[in-house]
Amino acid sequence: MPTEPHATSIQLGDLSFVPFLSADRIAQRVSELGQQITTDYQGRRPIMVTILNGSFIFSSDLVRAMKIDCDVQFMKVSSYEGTESTGRLTAIFDTLPDLKDQDLIIIEDIIDQGHTIDYLLRSLSEKNPASIKIATLLLKPEAYQYKHPVDYLGFEIPNDFVVGYGLDYNQMGRNLPGIYTLKEL
Ligand code: IMP
Ligand code: MG
Repeated sequence: MPTEPHATSIQLGDLSFVPFLSADRIAQRVSELGQQITTDYQGRRPIMVTILNGSFIFSSDLVRAMKIDCDVQFMKVSSYEGTESTGRLTAIFDTLPDLKDQDLIIIEDIIDQGHTIDYLLRSLSEKNPASIKIATLLLKPEAYQYKHPVDYLGFEIPNDFVVGYGLDYNQMGRNLPGIYTLKEL
């Protein structure tokens, strides 16, 4: 008997989502990124600038996949309402230490249009760090409007709305172990 096509779809508020990236596949890729950072940062102690709220799960897995010492810090920037990127950066919490001459790795869950990462690069570079690199689990190349290179990239994905593994739809779905994409109607 054929598998029920939508047996695994999940409902979050008014929207249905279907599985897109399994927890195993994400774990494999995050482990590779951790190894890459470990190699690139031998003898250094990067500050992992975790962008709340969406990156908290990616960050916690990524730093544990790194076999070097690091400093884990948090910052919050919000540019998002519902399922559309607004480009308006609304809330900012910043508990970062002195960044002068430090090696920073920004940890993002997803780069969509890129307004958030552009803002972060501009504001963090004003603190005169030694270097700034970007780690993002997901990138939507079709939506990305900037040229900043992404140093550590988990997956390029289509320009569709996704949830899970830290990413939310109106604060729902962050705790899903895998990533789900909006179901086609
Ligand atoms: P950007 O500024 O357009 O690059 O948007 C970045 C932020 O928008 C991310 O840090 C997420 O919080 C949010 N975002 C973008 N795309 C998605 C998505 O598909 N699902 C959930 N949140 C998203
Ligand atoms: Mg986010």
